[in-house]
Amino acid sequence: MPGITVAIDGPSGSGKSSVARTVAGHLGLAYLDTGAMYRAATVWTLTCGVSLAETARVADLVRTMPLRVSLDPKAPGFWLADDDVTAAIRDPAVSAVVSQVATNLEARPVLVSSQREIIAIERSAGFSNGRGIVAEGRDITTVVAPDAEVRILLVASEEARLARRAKEVHGSAGSVAVAATRAEVVGRDRADSAVAEFMTAADGVATLDNSEFSKAQTVQAVLELIEEAGR
Ligand code: DC
Repeated sequence: MPGITVAIDGPSGSGKSSVARTVAGHLGLAYLDTGAMYRAATVWTLTCGVSLAETARVADLVRTMPLRVSLDPKAPGFWLADDDVTAAIRDPAVSAVVSQVATNLEARPVLVSSQREIIAIERSAGFSNGRGIVAEGRDITTVVAPDAEVRILLVASEEARLARRAKEVHGSAGSVAVAATRAEVVGRDRADSAVAEFMTAADGVATLDNSEFSKAQTVQAVLELIEEAGR
């Protein structure tokens, strides 16, 4: 039996990264954060001194970007040539502009095809020894891996998502931190939703609303969906 693909999509603050990572660790699967690839592409373009507005040049850079990815859920990591950019890709300055790469219609297919390659490898070999992969992002259930054995759209109320992101970025979910987060999160999701549908589940995709769930409860719900799929 080939390895499994678990595809998880959702908006910012839905908790998909930490849930996907925990589930992958629990099942001995590889873990791919596709948003981090858009972030790495952003860092690479800026490092090369090219404006994100030059869409064709950005796509060319993404085609030749020397990106290496660690798929280990216990130690996910990203390198551009020998530079470890795992922390740099999370910089707020990158978060503020990454949508420009995510909405670049020439660059997207390049990243989608490397994501498909990674998934194909993990279904028969790779880090997981062929056990499979949990891949998360915005278009995994619909574009990257529509044939995944398990497809989940993880959603949460705007209130819950903003509170989580504020805690992550500002260390607090107080009203000032939430207000500062609102502009970033809501603005980015609006820009990104122009190129990927991640607020409504496509046919065959299970919607999991975790507004009222702890992380452990969400992980449990995802594990149950995987078990229901007979894996
Ligand atoms: O999940 P994140 O914030 O790290 O994602 C970074 C950006 O990449 C964000 O603008 C959404 C976009 N993205 C995307 O368009 N498609 C994906 N599969 C994953 C992320």
